[in-house]
Amino acid sequence: MRRRLPHFAAFCLIAVLYLAGAFEFIEYQLFDVRFRTLERPAQSDLVIVAIDPKCISEIGVWPWPRELHADLVDDLIGAGTRQIALDIDFSSRSNTIADARLAGGFEIEEEHFTARSPNLTPDVETGIGAWNDQELITAIREGLRPYGSLIIGPPMPFSQYRGMSDRDVRAIIAYLRSVPEISNRIAESEYRMPLPPAYGPPVGHVEDVSPDDQVAYGRYLAGPLAHCMECHTPMEKGRFDYGNRNCVGGFPIPPGGGASVLTGNITPDRETGVGGWSDDDIKKAITRGLRPDGSQIHPIMPYRFYTGMKSKDVNAIIAYLRSIPAVRNQVK
Ligand code: HEC
Repeated sequence: MRRRLPHFAAFCLIAVLYLAGAFEFIEYQLFDVRFRTLERPAQSDLVIVAIDPKCISEIGVWPWPRELHADLVDDLIGAGTRQIALDIDFSSRSNTIADARLAGGFEIEEEHFTARSPNLTPDVETGIGAWNDQELITAIREGLRPYGSLIIGPPMPFSQYRGMSDRDVRAIIAYLRSVPEISNRIAESEYRMPLPPAYGPPVGHVEDVSPDDQVAYGRYLAGPLAHCMECHTPMEKGRFDYGNRNCVGGFPIPPGGGASVLTGNITPDRETGVGGWSDDDIKKAITRGLRPDGSQIHPIMPYRFYTGMKSKDVNAIIAYLRSIPAVRNQVK
């Protein structure tokens, strides 16, 4: 017993020192060594994402909006990554859209419906793999399915998609057919309201809009393709009021949700809209989510999808926005 006493005393001393934090320094050193030995040439299939002060200040908010992580994962998977380790802080406020981006399915809960966005991958059983091009075109532009419950409900923006040219809708379909098949059965949406039998007469053929007419082309981009108008136009009796209040803002996104954000007035009104903004200011807002005063626009405004837009296309959208009636409407 006596011979063991020194061991016991040494053990107690170490335990006391450990509890007092005396070894923290050594632990940090060990962390360092571990990370240094982990360093290896970049590989395409394993990516460890660390977040440094530079990117925190570039994004401008911390914790990051949750969908940023979803985007990062999508981008990395797109680049062929198989394993991703993220330094994630999920303490940012959750909202349906951001969470859905991470969960894969998209559920939009509103008073009159619970809409679930379906699987659009080419999986035959659970996706659109069995649909032919014409069936897909009709579904995208007219909201009519070939099988099951025929009419597709809101919030699919058919009033805009009806104007999508044949060439563009076919390009979208070609893209959908190119994504990896994923088997993921999504439950049907539930509409606790009557849906119309159709959203209008058959669309038929839609010609391309020529980029030579900058305003008309910008209107086409801001409508059927980038649907700026839809988020930025309030509704009147369940319909977007493009006639009187096109792009005046104040529409909640997601509509009716508790954590929704109001869209801005993007008409040329100088005081309450973007009339006083330079082309470059508007461009920064569209492609980078920055206001002229440098403040960050909420990422629910999909500027991250617009980042890759060609200058010519952004300029056409700006020309279109400058052409619509200026409406005074102070949002917020
Ligand atoms: C999914 C809905 C949605 C779409 C689509 C959308 N926006 Fe927005 N946009 C918003 C929201 C919400 C805000 C306000 C966010 C905030 O207050 O931080 C906003 C803000 C803006 C602002 C800043 C306005 C201000 O006064 O601060 C501009 C400019 C803008 N959007 C232009 C566009 C253009 C142009 C398009 C199409 C290329 C577009 N938006 C598409 C939702 C959308």
